[in-house]
Amino acid sequence: MTVLGIETSCDETAAAVVRDGSTVLSNVVASQTDLHARHGGVVPEIASRRHLEVLDDTVKSALDGAGTSLDKVDGIAVTTRPGLIGALVVGLAAAKAYAWAAARPLVGVHHIEAHLFAARLEASKAPQPPFVGLVASGGHSDLLLVEDWLEMRLVGETRDDAAGEAFDKVSRLLGLGYPGGPAIEQAARAARDPVDFPIADLGASLDFSFSGVKTAVVRAVHRVGEEEARARVADLAAGFQRAIVEPLARNAVEACLRLGLGQLVVGGGVAANSVLRGLLAEGCRQAGVELFLTPTKYCTDNAAMIAAAGHERLTRGLRDDLLLDCESVAPLSRH
Ligand code: KG4
Ligand code: ZN
Repeated sequence: MTVLGIETSCDETAAAVVRDGSTVLSNVVASQTDLHARHGGVVPEIASRRHLEVLDDTVKSALDGAGTSLDKVDGIAVTTRPGLIGALVVGLAAAKAYAWAAARPLVGVHHIEAHLFAARLEASKAPQPPFVGLVASGGHSDLLLVEDWLEMRLVGETRDDAAGEAFDKVSRLLGLGYPGGPAIEQAARAARDPVDFPIADLGASLDFSFSGVKTAVVRAVHRVGEEEARARVADLAAGFQRAIVEPLARNAVEACLRLGLGQLVVGGGVAANSVLRGLLAEGCRQAGVELFLTPTKYCTDNAAMIAAAGHERLTRGLRDDLLLDCESVAPLSRH
């Protein structure tokens, strides 16, 4: 089964064709990063307009790249929730038009769910539910109990900023640019004496809190002054990075132990972080948990993961009709 995926929930206009939920035949991402960089973050109205301008060409190049056409794919999957509402509307309206014009089945996909399906892309082995999922992105830091691929519940979440959001804010503060994650990771490589930032203590909870770390960086910069902060940017970046990725890795492994589950699946933009990947590998090895890390290139937003999630729905006979709607907020239920 071949599925066309479409993703426009934030600032990447993306289309991809995926066979059988794992073989990526094409994966096109038209990034808007440059457009938003000068504003230090995503501007919703600019994002929607750009999606509108480039989506049709993006879909065409995904179909061409896969050597297929609209009338030959077995279904069309589109992100319907959560995300920037104007951005979602553009992708959904286009997906409906393609589905109607080519008489293809249409399915709506939850973006967070799709970040876990990304771990199945190009993978030799797929995780089998039940398992624990960790999705750390610009909008979410969710720990999930995945009882079935289409049935996931929260066992932990951030109480304030998402992990990626904290990376982006601190990167801006340190003058490292947008998106912050890769910039901070790069800067941190030169650290000699990482600054020790406090990690929030939430007791037995598997939740996260990242805003305190962010504030601690602001204070540290003010304390030493701008010039000294510039000189010690690598140490500040490395200390901050550790304070974010350590609780992510620790709680994810802890969730596996508490729930008695032997598999951990990790996705989302922050999962591209090599320090986080290293800590997860080490923690899982010690706990005897099998780790399924999303390949780095599929961690940040893409449409291959949307096609993979759509594939699961289509093979189960699930379909949406042209009344399908989108939602900016779509919380997963708590375990
Ligand atoms: O999953 P994603 O592309 O979009 C959302 O669904 O939000 O995640 C984007 C986020 C951004 O905040 C970006 O700074 C972060 O992922 N990110 C990283 C890295 N690469 C991207 N964070 C830490 N380290 C990275 N290497
Ligand atoms: Zn995402």
